[in-house]
Amino acid sequence: MVSPECAPFAETGGLGHMVSGLTKALANRHHDVRLFLPLYGFIHPQNDWFCHRDIPVYMGQKVETCQVYEASQNGITFYFIDAPNYFKDNAIYVDGPYNGERFAFFCRAVLDSCRALQWTPEVIHCHDWATGLIPVYCNTLRSCHPISSAATVFTIHNLQYQGIFAPSILSFAGIPFSEFHSTSLEALGQVNLLKGALYHATKITTVSPRYAQEIQTTEFGCGLDHVLRFKAGDLIGILNGIDTDVWNPETDPLIPSHFTSNNLIPKEECKKSIRNQFHLPHTPAPLLGVVSRICWQKGLDVFANVLPYLLNNTQLQVVILGTGDRNLENQFRSLEQPFPNQVRMISQYDSELAHRLQAGCDLFILPSRYEPCGLAQLYAMRYGTLPIVRATGGLADTVQSLNESDETGYGFVFSDLHNDAIYNTVHWAYRIYNEKHNLFQKMQKTAMEADFSWERSSAQYESVYQWAFNQRG
Ligand code: GLC
Repeated sequence: MVSPECAPFAETGGLGHMVSGLTKALANRHHDVRLFLPLYGFIHPQNDWFCHRDIPVYMGQKVETCQVYEASQNGITFYFIDAPNYFKDNAIYVDGPYNGERFAFFCRAVLDSCRALQWTPEVIHCHDWATGLIPVYCNTLRSCHPISSAATVFTIHNLQYQGIFAPSILSFAGIPFSEFHSTSLEALGQVNLLKGALYHATKITTVSPRYAQEIQTTEFGCGLDHVLRFKAGDLIGILNGIDTDVWNPETDPLIPSHFTSNNLIPKEECKKSIRNQFHLPHTPAPLLGVVSRICWQKGLDVFANVLPYLLNNTQLQVVILGTGDRNLENQFRSLEQPFPNQVRMISQYDSELAHRLQAGCDLFILPSRYEPCGLAQLYAMRYGTLPIVRATGGLADTVQSLNESDETGYGFVFSDLHNDAIYNTVHWAYRIYNEKHNLFQKMQKTAMEADFSWERSSAQYESVYQWAFNQRG
């Protein structure tokens, strides 16, 4: 498993959670899973981590070295690539061409470390553009490198981020210039690491079936839809699971009071504690949460435009947690003054508060423009917090909208990202909460009992690994 992020060591969002959850599930199924991460400046080697020293890394004309720290946790072997020239920064991603060099080095260091450790994996599972050169190396190194016999599975977590760099990165990485063409790494005169990965990976996955379809269209394809249509026979969407040990309302140590689908009463305590902390009055109105990166992808700009109308016409209380677009954060914050009893904007990435909000809210909103999978709506449902989402990607695949006539469904889903659609859907949820509380509770119970554990998805990944392995072998 090769990834730029893995919780709890390094994460900026869902990718880190997905990688740790899947790895854990595979180890539980008795696979020999070993995970490679860069040793970023903020990761400090522990005393019991073994250090493999002076591993040669063949970067183009130059031979560099790295150290590899080996740690073992819950049946998983972690390898941290220690190369201070590239990873002393206290950030996972940095700006500029250096970012490309960092991850090019990481990819090559992973392959050369496997060789040095004399371990040849059957399948290398790579995540997002930062690992895009691994499939390319495996195909271009061929007989010169023992690891290149491995099958590669490449997972797209977000097609928008492609890793685009000047062509000089090729000589830096030691990739033959013959790969600089439109059915490999080249796109619009630049090197596109994600595109290279799509052409070279043995199999491609993405994190929901719906997103696997969407990215083959011009609307969602981010300029690579033609590549994905061409590779459609090797592409499959598998829904992410969630770590149900970490996200468990019965045992979660981060929340003030524990509850189950059969006893939701203690959930009220969780709501009280949020209201107390943020000085919101205890009213009979529902509490709506946003736990998300604050950005365009998430459609929160449209929500911000609609919110004043919702606040004027209802007693709804809204707590927004996340960081991202400063202007958008300020737009939300500017509502605190005119609506002091109804809105709080908390500009932080705070996983403890995320747990407490997921537990303490009645409703949760994620109106994404596109959403490869989305994990926050799954966490919300597990905590009996009903999701209001736009029908796209993994949101469409995981949230079943309420049908009031037969009382099925456990969320509130709309299709178009328009002011009216958001307004009406939030208002609908508000009405069900106020006027049909039994139905609301029934929905909460169904949402909490829905199975989004890694069990099913990890079995699907096993099939993909087998499929890739057979093809490579
Ligand atoms: C990215 C996507 C998100 C997905 C996550 C994990 O963050 O934006 O939808 O859930 O990766 O796969």
